[in-house]
Amino acid sequence: MEQNILMEIYQPAEDSLMFAEFLNQYLKSNKIDSYLDIGTGSGILAKTASKIISPKKITASDINPEAIINLKQQPFKTIKSNLFKQISNSFDLITFNAPYLPLNPEEPKDSQVATTGGKRGDEISIKFLKQAKSHLNKNGKIFLLISSLTPQNKIKKLWPYTIVVKKKAFMEELLILEFQQNTNNP
Ligand SMILES: C[S@@+](CC[C@H](N)C(=O)[O-])C[C@H]1O[C@@H](n2cnc3c(N)ncnc32)[C@H](O)[C@@H]1O
Repeated sequence: MEQNILMEIYQPAEDSLMFAEFLNQYLKSNKIDSYLDIGTGSGILAKTASKIISPKKITASDINPEAIINLKQQPFKTIKSNLFKQISNSFDLITFNAPYLPLNPEEPKDSQVATTGGKRGDEISIKFLKQAKSHLNKNGKIFLLISSLTPQNKIKKLWPYTIVVKKKAFMEELLILEFQQNTNNP
């Protein structure tokens, strides 16, 4: 359900910087013709990509209309969308630094949109992966960032993955999971 409250734009944090560094290396050594960043927030990942590949190949989307307004001067395409609702294309690469934490009812609603993956923490990631399957080109890849606080059993059952980055943060470990269209998508 989309929310009518004014949502904060997620400011780049340790997870964003870790993902940007990984993406930078990945794009330097892999040929990508189309890239979608879901939940782009400040646009850190799309901006990182646009220094390496043509902005014409990049689409950045977010459920938060403020995030999309904030990116309107950027050279890449932006779309306000709840996951893939407004997205019809397929891509070689899809990234999502997901809201991955289990619900903390004490957290204000306006920041929960960026941080909270649902009651357990894995709900948005699962929805994302189910929808992403039909938006990934042959040999395409998805990189999804979650945390050690996110339950992984349902995600793994849905679509086995490889952990490509693991980093200790304050209260958790941050993980980037790689999903491939051709090899491990059942
Ligand atoms: C952890 S923040 C990451 C922001 C940015 N990509 C970064 O790395 O700093 C998660 C982002 O996902 C967005 N988001 C949450 N639910 C979404 C949904 N259902 N569809 C699209 N974006 C969503 C939030 O608005 C937020 O910008």
